[in-house]
Amino acid sequence: MIPRRLENQVAWVTGAGRGFGAAIARGLAQAGAHVCITDVNADELAATADEIDAAVDRSSSTTLALLTDVCDAAAMQESAARIVERWGRVDILVSNAAILPLAPFEAHTPAFWRKMIDVNLTGVYHGVWAVWPHMVRQQHGHCIAIASGASVRGFVDEVAYCTAKHGLEGFTQALALEARPHQIAVNTMGPGRRIKPTSVSRDQEAQQRAAGSADWSDALELAPAFVWLAAQPPDRYTGLRFDAGPIASTLANEGYDFSFAPEKVTLYVQSMQERLARAPMQ
Ligand SMILES: NC(=O)c1ccc[n+]([C@@H]2O[C@H](COP(=O)([O-])OP(=O)(O)OC[C@H]3O[C@@H](n4cnc5c(N)ncnc54)[C@H](O)[C@@H]3O)[C@@H](O)[C@H]2O)c1
Repeated sequence: MIPRRLENQVAWVTGAGRGFGAAIARGLAQAGAHVCITDVNADELAATADEIDAAVDRSSSTTLALLTDVCDAAAMQESAARIVERWGRVDILVSNAAILPLAPFEAHTPAFWRKMIDVNLTGVYHGVWAVWPHMVRQQHGHCIAIASGASVRGFVDEVAYCTAKHGLEGFTQALALEARPHQIAVNTMGPGRRIKPTSVSRDQEAQQRAAGSADWSDALELAPAFVWLAAQPPDRYTGLRFDAGPIASTLANEGYDFSFAPEKVTLYVQSMQERLARAPMQ
């Protein structure tokens, strides 16, 4: 049961057509937020909208589904404008859209490289750029990009993906410094548990689950971690890298008002301690 900690808030989740993004969007809606979901896949986006509809009390949380490519700066700006036109504000941006076609470095081409960086890194910038003036006007906001083990380590066949995910950590740490005076938090959050692999479609996931060949956690179990973070005052935790798995476990064991410790909120405790030492919490 997700507590309604985000009532009257407005969230935007990119790449929400399936997988982690669909689960995060549903969790934010269950917490009472109005949610805009965007994706490039119309059918999967519609499936997410139906899932949210079935799971949420419509009297307090409404949904807007928009076909929007994170690579298209003008379209991202237009979606931000549609959100503000509809609900008057935008409090939470979860930059989740990503692609991960596995490819050895020898198979990389400049076009492949550009596409990977465009979706996985520049796409996040486009979202933050689009919501920034609204969040500055409100003096309130949370920008959360999705992290990965590839944010802090290298993996074979993931050179461009790892580069983009590492880049998001630098983006987050630097932007947090400029965002803090505006009461805007900038963080990343990894799943922290094994979930359905990226680029596996809804149909493929259903087939693999039916065949018993999917040993993945349900991403919905991780959604409360986003509700917890988005409900914090923006100047409390910023410039940090979280993991949803440990947070979900902590919430289940201790409730939403748990006393903070890095090991309760991330798998990468030393890195969080170092960042906190550089920019202490309020
Ligand atoms: N699945 C994992 O094991 C895992 C692990 C670590 C991090 N992540 C991260 O979690 C996030 C979600 O990944 P997932 O595994 O749910 O992937 P997924 O492939 O299931 O979902 C990604 C969604 O993004 C959409 N998308 C792709 N390109 C887009 C674009 N240009 N514009 C808008 N939408 C676009 C896709 O249509 C899809 O709906 C990603 O940031 C990924 O890097 C996933």
